[in-house]
Amino acid sequence: MLSSKNLLTSIASPGLRREFSLLKNQGFINGKWVAAQGNAKFEVVNPATKAVIDSVPDMNIQDTKLAIDAATEAFKTFRNTTAKYRANLLRNWYNLMVQHSEELAKILTQENGKSLAESRAEITYGNSFVEWFSEEARRINGEILPATTDNRKLMILKQPAGVAALITPWNFPHAMITRKAGAAIAAGCTCIIKPSEDTPFTGLALAQLADDAGFPAGVINVITTNTSNSPDVGKAICDDKRVRVVSFTGSTQVGKILYRQCADNVKKVCLELGGNAPFIVFESANIDLAVSSAMVCKFRNTGQTCISANRFYVQKNVFQEFTSKFLERMQKDIVLGDGMKQNVTHGPLIKKSQIDMVDHLVQDAVSKGAKLHCGGKRLADLGELFYAPTLLTDVNENMEIFAKEIFGPVAVIHQFESEDQVLMDANNINVGLAGYFYSENLSQIFRVARKMEVGMIGVNEGLISCAEAAFGGVKESGLGREGSKHGVDDFLDIKYLCLGNIQY
Ligand code: SIN
Repeated sequence: MLSSKNLLTSIASPGLRREFSLLKNQGFINGKWVAAQGNAKFEVVNPATKAVIDSVPDMNIQDTKLAIDAATEAFKTFRNTTAKYRANLLRNWYNLMVQHSEELAKILTQENGKSLAESRAEITYGNSFVEWFSEEARRINGEILPATTDNRKLMILKQPAGVAALITPWNFPHAMITRKAGAAIAAGCTCIIKPSEDTPFTGLALAQLADDAGFPAGVINVITTNTSNSPDVGKAICDDKRVRVVSFTGSTQVGKILYRQCADNVKKVCLELGGNAPFIVFESANIDLAVSSAMVCKFRNTGQTCISANRFYVQKNVFQEFTSKFLERMQKDIVLGDGMKQNVTHGPLIKKSQIDMVDHLVQDAVSKGAKLHCGGKRLADLGELFYAPTLLTDVNENMEIFAKEIFGPVAVIHQFESEDQVLMDANNINVGLAGYFYSENLSQIFRVARKMEVGMIGVNEGLISCAEAAFGGVKESGLGREGSKHGVDDFLDIKYLCLGNIQY
């Protein structure tokens, strides 16, 4: 008779399973690979080919509770480990990630659809967070404060906050997990990772590598959940008093729900939410540089990136030059297709709701008078989820695309006359994640950087992400920072200690 583990393995796509030893089709709780309590599963498809990659458990509230039980139990000892121990653990994990980079990149392309070149870049980027936090783990220092009386010693201790739930999106399935988990582990927290239902395999592969790296049981748990169970699982996480931190990357809409749900037991919340990045090109800019950066900034992950340029503003005198050079590069540089194929630079959109939304925004704009320079259509010959790179001008506030985060390969270019006007337009929005501008005028650089209402700015640079950066936004783009030395803050409690009546 087949054990339940073998039974699941037998369902896996045999070709992929042979090719990828890290392709796991069970959840990971308390150091064990497990099915959902009720044995429910769901299929995950490759968005480029629509082939089923494999099934994973559709875990519900019961499974979530088991993961929280495991993380709570593990925290009792993990909280007391030394920084050096945690640094070594993270370093082991990082070394294994580097060793398995190519396999991780291929799994990522299978489930997300991005080109292999983009997946390799994401794996390198994602790995760098674990390396970074293996180093930061040993620099989480307390403080000694000057006391107001001679017989006291005042100090600040930093202690791990407790069990952390890490809820991650489909657009960067590797880097969003490592950016959160690296920080949580460095701080001494234990984690429950809930990857997106669209891209669970990268998270499961990381769990296998964590196990191989020597993580104690329960320190890292991964629960997989389909769309229908996700809201209940999210609520169960927020309602459970034992979870002390919720770190979420995803839409502003879901972020607000989680934020409200966390209010009841006043959890620490770190939210990396939507952006709508302005990309401003002033007339003093190096236009060729601005065009090259615009290509990377707009089309990274086929435009499905929170910090993608979403609104281009180009000053009147250079508008024609920028627009025609950008159009030329869009038509020349982008090769869409199955990300596993050589020469393909960009993949499909992740799912039907995504491509429907992108197409709706474009059709709405064109029907209301926007000028379409290229694209504006689905590319059914390539597959159901491919959308042609699209360039629009003459967009105004009556069109839905004017104020929306597009999350697709669609560039909208506006023309502006003055610095004051463009700053007003760029800031006239509820979110503020990243912003970019191009200028060779030093005073303008400092002026504009000070006035842009965003959490991160690229000046003459369109690719700003790295482990050293304090990633995060202002306004409705979120709370807290990830990466950098600040990335651990959300996973730490500060404890003030007053030692009194010391006899000298
Ligand atoms: C995101 O789109 O959420 C993350 C992008 C990045 O880390 O660069």
